[in-house]
Amino acid sequence: MKVLVIGAGGREHALIWKLAQSPELTSLHAAPGSAAIAEWATCHAGTKAADLDAIVALAAGESIDLVVVGPEDPLAAGLADRLRDRGIATFGPSAAAAQLEGSKAFAKDFMQRHEIPTARYAVFEESDPAHAYIDELKSPCVVKADGLAAGKGVAMCEDAAAAHAAIDEMMGARRFGDAGDRVVVEQWLRGEEASYYAISDGERIVTLAAAQDHKRALDGDRGENTGGMGAYSPAPVVTDAVEKKILERVVYPTIRGMAKEGHPFQGVLFVGLMVDESGEPFVIEFNVRFGDPETQALLVRMEGDLLPLLDDAARGKLDPATGIGWGEAAVCVVLASGGYPRDYEVGQPISGLGGISQEDSLVAFHAGTRRSESGEGFETAGGRVLGITARGRDVVTARDRAYAAIDQISFEGMQYRNDIASRAIDR
Ligand code: AMP
Ligand code: GLY
Repeated sequence: MKVLVIGAGGREHALIWKLAQSPELTSLHAAPGSAAIAEWATCHAGTKAADLDAIVALAAGESIDLVVVGPEDPLAAGLADRLRDRGIATFGPSAAAAQLEGSKAFAKDFMQRHEIPTARYAVFEESDPAHAYIDELKSPCVVKADGLAAGKGVAMCEDAAAAHAAIDEMMGARRFGDAGDRVVVEQWLRGEEASYYAISDGERIVTLAAAQDHKRALDGDRGENTGGMGAYSPAPVVTDAVEKKILERVVYPTIRGMAKEGHPFQGVLFVGLMVDESGEPFVIEFNVRFGDPETQALLVRMEGDLLPLLDDAARGKLDPATGIGWGEAAVCVVLASGGYPRDYEVGQPISGLGGISQEDSLVAFHAGTRRSESGEGFETAGGRVLGITARGRDVVTARDRAYAAIDQISFEGMQYRNDIASRAIDR
């Protein structure tokens, strides 16, 4: 099978690393891919994920059997629809189904229609009623830009003053551009966060596993929200009983609801959840693609072949009885550029990567790197640079292996959290 993966980050590096192990694979391509991805796949560096015409032409020209779309933006822009129109099997939802992530207002209204548990909320297109609603709420709330903002368009507001300021920033100063033309104001949920992953062909489901990421930049969940500073799987807060509730109250109703509304969801449904003290799950957000860096941990943990699963989902013939084997635990620690998630410098040489063997249970996934000018080794090229991912017989072993590998790696300004997976370990 000839497979094309769309994207260039750590998540795509992990997908490619896993797909490359499939006995069913005949050739693997990436667009645009990256210098690190080029180790396993033919990269079409000139074909950007946003250029839908170029991707469709590439997939047709290379007689690709399956396209796997990594990031959300091309899905929201209709890439999967375009590819399917050309008869090319594609793993990833249609633009209509991708609204589950692309519009927070769509997702909230959908959950309300289908009685899926989520925080109380209201949607605003003008700032005055938003300010008035905040005054009425009188409780900590969360203000969110409606559109895609790379996980950063969310302000956690302890009090009304912070919430008013967030509205001014999004709707007045337009920090997130058009994404802030509509905002959602919702109740601040308390509990422990987890994410849950399931693959669907639009009708049937194969469940993957739960994971947790660390969104804040600094140890102890301080600092700004980022795209994710590390992740681990499984998530201990998702016990068997909690998983059952997630499936019955969230995953099945979502897949059924989307089909019923005429937008069958085909791809991976990534549910961001808050699990409260009594083990009740509430949806914080839906994503319509694999999480980054959760996928790095999930795929290092996952046993068996990913390719037939994605292919069956893309072709509408998923077997819900498919059993997936999982290693005990995996941890991914992100190494970021100094200053991330705000301004940072790129072009810093990375040393010590050679010490990581890229074996099955310890892998350095590249999120933002490029070849150094000399052609020897890599240098930094993004905010999140590397995701050092290790598997272990338990989460402590996995974490210790990841940090031991990190001790060998350095670049100017390198920052990372020292407490990835501590929420699982200190329970
Ligand atoms: P989102 O982009 O909606 O996933 O929000 C990003 C992060 O903000 C989430 O992962 C949570 O940590 C936090 N968050 C969002 N909404 C809420 C909420 N209603 N209550 C508590 N935390 C939230
Ligand atoms: N790590 C969170 C995300 O991929 O959205």
